[in-house]
Amino acid sequence: MLVRVGCVVKQHLSRLSIPCRSIQCSAFALHENPLGLPKRPGPAPEIPRRFKEPVKKRPIPNVNKVIAVASGKGGVGKSTVAVNLACRLAMRRTPEQRPLRVGILDLDIFGPSVPGLMGLDAAEMPLTTEAGGVVPLRNHGLKCMSMGFLLPPLNMDAENPDKAVVWRGLMVQKAVQQLLFEVDWRSPPDTGGQPLDILVVDLPPGTGDVALTLGQLVNVDGAVIVSTPQNVALYDVRRGIAMFKQLSIPILGMILNQAYFLCPSCEDKHQIYGDTSPFHTTAKNLGIDVLGELPIVGAVNEKGNRGVPYILDDGTKDGQFAAHHVSQWREAMDVVCDKVTALGS
Ligand SMILES: Nc1ncnc2c1ncn2[C@@H]1O[C@H](COP(=O)(O)OP(=O)(O)O)[C@@H](O)[C@H]1O
Ligand SMILES: [Mg+2]
Repeated sequence: MLVRVGCVVKQHLSRLSIPCRSIQCSAFALHENPLGLPKRPGPAPEIPRRFKEPVKKRPIPNVNKVIAVASGKGGVGKSTVAVNLACRLAMRRTPEQRPLRVGILDLDIFGPSVPGLMGLDAAEMPLTTEAGGVVPLRNHGLKCMSMGFLLPPLNMDAENPDKAVVWRGLMVQKAVQQLLFEVDWRSPPDTGGQPLDILVVDLPPGTGDVALTLGQLVNVDGAVIVSTPQNVALYDVRRGIAMFKQLSIPILGMILNQAYFLCPSCEDKHQIYGDTSPFHTTAKNLGIDVLGELPIVGAVNEKGNRGVPYILDDGTKDGQFAAHHVSQWREAMDVVCDKVTALGS
């Protein structure tokens, strides 16, 4: 039997949106279970603490490969790349000719984008299995989990103001841990009950609690770094890369997003953010592969707003120009897919 999760979180969040003092004293128990999940048997994974022995990394249950999509910077297109990469992976087949089983986990606790980008922003709260695992939601052939599914929906209603997650580090670490270890990626049962081949993890910007918790607790098979051409993005990317190296997470390569705009009237490439050579120099100096350059395309944003990943259809019905853009995005995603599927083989 499946049970709906999240009512507890909803109540807690209404409490948590009141000023900070109440947060601290609101409920110690919340620190142990910020998502309000049912209690499960077995020891909970340890939170890494300073001055303690390093915690042993564990696999995510029912997931074969974990790929993180990251960047030091916000707004560079991590979530957009993550959902499109996951969709492109799901279009591939295994050597036995069955489609790859792919999931996407949104670890952006304070700014979850996956529900919107996957067309699941109006979805019901997730269910839990009898064993207490959270059941992922599904759309566009992917299983999805996000903090956003556990939050009350945003609304424009003056009587029900929007709620924010107002959490300190320990709560964030614990919530990340629950999202990592308490989602049952085999469920719902009508999806075959098999583990995922690949889980794409969409990280928040920066080198804070979330990325660190993931890197310290979980075996991450590879990280894809997304940047835009500006120096301010590249500075933060370098810090992000340094963190992954420190955590011994292999870096599959860097993607340059918003590299240029292809003008429909003159068909010239316009480098709106200037020369892209600093990106290539940074990659070369760090010894990291460049996986592709993605153009700025209005339809990426427009489709994202409608909850449809850009590369899902090949764009031919919108004309040659649109199809050309999609093929550029698909080519870059294919380079990443090749790297991901080759991992461990
Ligand atoms: N290449 C692109 N062309 C057009 N819009 C883009 C492109 N890349 C990202 N965007 C838009 O930029 C915004 C921020 O992207 P998002 O993926 O949420 O960034 P991040 O996860 O790094 O914060 C979104 O509205 C997205 O649609
Ligand atoms: Mg994001």
